[in-house]
Formats: sequence, C-alpha cells, structure tokens
Amino acid sequence: MRIKSLESYKEVYNKSVSNPEAFWEDIASGFTWKQKWDKVLDWNFTEPSVKWFQGGKLNITENCLDRHIETKGHHTALIWEPNDPKEKSRKYTYQELLEEVCRMANLLKAQGVKKGDRVCIYLPMVPELMISVLACARIGAVHSVVFAGFSAQSIADRVQDAQAKVVITSDGLNRGSRQQAVKRVVDEALETCPFVERVLVLNVLGWEVPMQEGRDISINETIQAMPSWIEAESMDAEDMLFILYTSGSTGKPKGVVHTCGGYMVYTAYTFLNVFQPEPHEIYWCTADVGWVTGHSYLVYGPLLNGATTLMFEGVPTWPDAGRFWQIIDKYGVNIFYTAPTAIRSLMSFGEDPVLNYSLHSLKVLGTVGEPINEEAWKWYFVHIGKEKCPIVDTWWQTETGGIMISNMAGVTPHKPAHATLPLPGIQPVLLNGEGKVIEENGVEGYLCIRFPWPSMIRTTYGDHERCRQTYFSNYAGYYFTGDGAKRDEQGNYRIIGRVDDVINVSGHRFGTAEIENAINTAPEVLESAVVGFPHDIKGQGIYAFVIVNNPEQDADMRVAEIQEAVVKHIGKIARPDKIILVKGLPKTRSGKIMRRILRKIAEGEFQQLGDTTSLLDPGVVEDILAKVR
Ligand code: WT7
Repeated sequence: MRIKSLESYKEVYNKSVSNPEAFWEDIASGFTWKQKWDKVLDWNFTEPSVKWFQGGKLNITENCLDRHIETKGHHTALIWEPNDPKEKSRKYTYQELLEEVCRMANLLKAQGVKKGDRVCIYLPMVPELMISVLACARIGAVHSVVFAGFSAQSIADRVQDAQAKVVITSDGLNRGSRQQAVKRVVDEALETCPFVERVLVLNVLGWEVPMQEGRDISINETIQAMPSWIEAESMDAEDMLFILYTSGSTGKPKGVVHTCGGYMVYTAYTFLNVFQPEPHEIYWCTADVGWVTGHSYLVYGPLLNGATTLMFEGVPTWPDAGRFWQIIDKYGVNIFYTAPTAIRSLMSFGEDPVLNYSLHSLKVLGTVGEPINEEAWKWYFVHIGKEKCPIVDTWWQTETGGIMISNMAGVTPHKPAHATLPLPGIQPVLLNGEGKVIEENGVEGYLCIRFPWPSMIRTTYGDHERCRQTYFSNYAGYYFTGDGAKRDEQGNYRIIGRVDDVINVSGHRFGTAEIENAINTAPEVLESAVVGFPHDIKGQGIYAFVIVNNPEQDADMRVAEIQEAVVKHIGKIARPDKIILVKGLPKTRSGKIMRRILRKIAEGEFQQLGDTTSLLDPGVVEDILAKVR
C-alpha cells in the first residue's frame, strides 16, 4: 500500500486506528506466503505476548529475491562501493544476489547449520555481510549480527547469550587509510566459547590468518563449489528471524528478538511510504548492517520493494570530507539516508567539499538515530538537498524494528527537528509522571505506544521477564520507548531524547551501567559514575567520574587504563570523552548516586546543581567542581 497525498494519509491513518487488523491484513496480502495466516493478531501487553499472522508460512528471502526475478531479475539489487575510491565497485542483479545467497546458504547447511540455529555474523561492510544475513534467513537460521567495531569481550558475551553454533567473519577490514584485524578479535572472543562448531572466514584483505583445524573454514575456497540454488525454508510467521543486541539501563546488552512475518510486512511498508522510491531510483543508507538501521533499511526494506540499495565499505571523511557527495554523484543516488552525527561532522568541514559535486540526482533526504538540531537540519536541507528535497526525520528503535514516527517524503510536510506524525498503524501516546495519557496538544511527556504493530520486539532472547520489565512494566498496558517527546499544536512529535540511563553517542546506544562495569575493572578503580553530556558532533558524549586509590599518583596512567578497560570490554566506540578522577561521588544518605548533579556538572552548569542538602557528604561536590572548573 502506498500513500500519496496528505488527505489520503489522514484517511488511511484513521482507518488504521479504527480497524487495525483489516489495515495490516490488506498490506500483508501483497507478499508471497507459502500458506495464508489464520489470525491477523493476538496480543496482550501484560505478559507481553504479541503474535501477528499466526498460521501463516513464508520465507522473507523469497519476498526479497525470488519474487522479483521474473520482472526484475536483471535489475541491480546491490551496488557496493569499496573503501578505496580507486578500487572497483561491485554490482549484483537480483538474479546474481539470489545465486550468491543460495551458495552461502548451501555452505551453512553443509557445515551443519539447521533451522533455528543461531549464527553470529561479525563482518565489515562488504557484500558478503548482506549475503550472509540473507543466507541465514533462507535456511531458517537466526542471524545475530555484531557490529565489527565491538571488542572481543562483546562478541563473546553475544555469542554466549545466543549460544551461536557458527560465526561468520573475515581476515580483516578496511577503514579509511587503515586496515584492521578482524579474525584475531574473533579468535580471542571464542576462547571462552568452546561450543562454537565452525568459523567461516572471508578473505577481504588477502591476509594470512591462523586457521584452527577442524573449526575454521575459508569461505573463498569453498563457496564456488556450492550450488546456486536452495529451496527457501518454510517459516512460521512468528518464528525468529534475528536477534540484535542493544544496550539498556542495566549492565548487560539484551538480545532483541524479531520474527519473520511481522518484520517483513512492516519494513517493506515503511520503506515504501517513508522514502517514496520510484522504479530505477538509487537508494543509499549509510548505516552499518551491524545496527538495526542497516538490517531494516539497507537490507530488508529496499530488497522487499525491489529497489536498488547501495552499500559503502568506507568512512565519510576518507580520502576527504567529500566522499559521501562523490559517491552520490558517481551513482546518481536519489534517496540518501544518514545520521545527524555524520551531518554535523561533515558540516564542520564547511561547504567546500560539497561544492565539488552537483548532487542534482538527490530527491529525498533522511535522518535517523538521534534528535537532529535545527542548525544541522538547515545545513542538510540547503547545502545537500539544495532546498528542493524533503527531509524525513525517522524516529524508531531497535525494538520497534522499523520507522514509527516520521514524515513521508513529498506526502506529509517536514518540520525542522521534528519527526512529525505517526505512520498509519502506529498509535503513540504521551504519558505524564503519573502514567496518565495526556490528550491535548502543545505538551511534553513520556513516549509510549498503545497498540501493537507487526515488527515490534517479541522478547529479549532467553529472558522474557527482562522484556516485560524493561518495556511493559513502567506503564501498564503500554510499550514504553524510554524516550521523552513533545507534541506541538498540530500534533507533530519532537523527540527530546532518552529519559532512562542510556546515552546516545553518535546514534549508538550505551547503558551507563555497562560503561561503569567496564571502568570498574581497571586497576585502582573503586567506583565510577557515567553520564551523558551535549557533544557538538556526537550528540552526546560520555563523561566518567571515577574514584581511584591515590588519585594524585599516576593520574595520566589511571586515565589511560580506564580508557583501555572500556575499549576492551565494549569497543572504541564507547571510549569516554572525559574522565575525571574524584575522591567521592555525590550520594544520598541511602547510598544512591545523584546523577542529576553529575549531569549538571558535565553540562558545565555549575550554578544550577539544585538541592545538594540531602547529600551524605556535600563536600564531594566541591571536590569535583574544583577538578572540572
Ligand atoms: C533511540 C533508539 C532507530 C535506528 C537507530 C537507533 C533515538 C532514533 C531518532 C530520531 C530523535 C531518535 C531515540 C531512540 N532516536 N531516531 N529521528 N529523532 N531520536 O536505534 O540504537 O535502537 O536507538 O535512538 O532515543 O530511543 P537504537
């Protein structure tokens, strides 16, 4: 279903609320099902239990690939742009992509992977990453992609939690002017995962890497012998499609579970309606497949719609800060979807790198991952979109599976720094501190969703209680997003940001507890408290207050060790921007850290610390202030 005007948006929205089942049934009918569903929806938000299209059978890859072969077999499905602009790009037609996916699926099968088995994918942004994801889906294996910037410890945690049987990885990766080891990180991780039976290794750099006898297999040496066809496994609509780990307020990242039928219906529907692609247009999402944006809007959403999706191996600033714009001109990209942090970073280089390119092919721009400030929005609109491209500001989460609140390109109006209106089928509400729904406009509250949608989180892998606790217990009967939002007089939503202990760094989520746990493993560290603070490029930066033994001694070394501990436990992406060694932390008499005070200090608002009289020892605040001022 494609909505093409503001009037029809309103009409369709109202229908989607008055009869959600008919609304979704209609959209679901547009796909290839091996067997039709018996029941559209069964749900309660208390357990929670949400089931869409029960009794339906399908395979998402048939809908991504096979379904298009007859009409679009020779159309380009994937364009891959390498890190080095001097190297050759690669293109796959729908026919070729199907064959590569089948080969990889056959290889997985040959290595003993069966329906329901978990496969961990730790690969850089190369076509084989997309191929591996789809190969798992083809045979009904559950993919768990781990972003290739995460540390060995993070891989180990995720592989253990999912009890993955197989890991797919590469020798190394390209990142701008540097090359980095990848297989070595996996080897280190798997020292604590003896249950992993196979490691499939892709040759990306041509490095010689140690291969463990009986466990490791070269993809390059085995793949060509694999048949280019395999029947798609028949999956129940509610069978697991993938697990994706994401951080929350507690120490351990949780495995968000998405299922086959609902995720397919929702990502396809939202891709079509938010981006409004036309046949033959080139679409580019800059997100890594390691994040949910890459899953839903680099791989599944575009392929389900038979679009041409572009994948870029490199970074926006290499060989220079014009790389994104060069790629847009090179391929004539029409739809461009990126993150505010990337926009702010490129903005800092001024207009010169942009002026070298025409960018005339652009038609639609998008942002995702964090609130976009008005200054960045305007720069994007004027200098990239040349004041003619609508900007879709898409609010959603790993847990929602797809875009929830967003304008629709050329259909519903954009408004700087506002995600604007809910998509048809989505029923957001704002709740006040007492958990009551605020009905009027011009208000602010906690953002919740009151009715299920097809791609919503089903469970947190291996721990359903945690899912209930995190998302369904704060406000009975609602899915709680963890975000605060404003609603203007016209009903447009503006997302303010997280209201829980989650920090959004460059559009990536980290729990404060997760970072503190890592810091606490460093030598001489007694205790730590981490808060977010406004950062010009990253949106939020990480600010750590750490109590160490003898803070006056070897302070630089302590700081370096703390950085190292975070890099080891999580990865470079979570490295604190500021570390202050302190004598004590502001605590209440009951021993609770008063983060409110630390946040104010991190923001530089020293005059507005609020009431500090309830502190156990108000002196610690003076000590901290003396260090940061
Ligand atoms: C959190 C979800 C959804 C894919 C990328 C991040 C923030 C996301 C927006 C937006 C303001 C946004 C929210 C949300 N967020 N999109 N358009 N405007 N904030 O996925 O890692 O699951 O993070 O990102 O705070 O809760 P994620």
